Amino acid sequence: MFIAGNWKMNTDRFSAIALARRLAETIDDPGEAVKVAVCVPFPLIDSVTNSLKTCCVAVGAQNVHEQEKGAYTGEVSATMLTSVGCTYVIVGHSERRQYFGETDTVINQKVQRALAHKLTPILCIGETLAEREAGEAQAVVQRQLQGALTEVEVASPEALVVAYEPVWAIGTGKTATPDQAQEMHAFIRQWLTGRYGPELAGGIDVLYGGSMKPGNASDLLEQPDVNGGLIGGASLHPDDFLAIVETARVSMAGA
Ligand code: PGA
Repeated sequence: MFIAGNWKMNTDRFSAIALARRLAETIDDPGEAVKVAVCVPFPLIDSVTNSLKTCCVAVGAQNVHEQEKGAYTGEVSATMLTSVGCTYVIVGHSERRQYFGETDTVINQKVQRALAHKLTPILCIGETLAEREAGEAQAVVQRQLQGALTEVEVASPEALVVAYEPVWAIGTGKTATPDQAQEMHAFIRQWLTGRYGPELAGGIDVLYGGSMKPGNASDLLEQPDVNGGLIGGASLHPDDFLAIVETARVSMAGA
């Protein structure tokens, strides 16, 4: 089970450190079955990594440039991220697709760049409301998987994380029902199985994202193909985020 926070463009140096310290105080057992990470804004990665260095919460970024280095003013490379202690990076979030024009082709290049630097990509996929209503949800998700993972080989299941985030559920307070989530997660697992074989695909964490909160986390995390959550809004409230981590722990213990 894997619970990852996505802070998006929120916090500043002071509130980020305070938030990270709260997590560090509470999540202190490196042996636990639930992996936890926070994906934070670029300038705060170093401070958050420092605040979390005595605990087992990993740090991720929310984007990475597809090129190795060079004249790309304003961009951030995979080397920079690993040098400040990042181990994860969100790739292809729907907000990047929607507001920054990221295509499956560029997302594919970012996944490859991240993997080449041993940064674990958290690959985000998911359909819009119009696509779901048109009965195209699975076709869209399949196209995004195919596009993002073209020529991508993964050495072990831990090298890749997939996050199913229906766009209509992100930041809207509308959550996919546990049945809707399970149905899509099973479809994703089946696709990954065809691509990477059952052993690898069975071990890849497929997270659900989209208005996951303490009140709905349990029903979602209990679905057999839901291996955790990518948490936006609720990850900015330590009590809520910690409650979701605790729910994941309980659900693991009961599994
Ligand atoms: P949300 O965001 O939990 O605020 O809906 C999830 C995400 O966009 O990763």
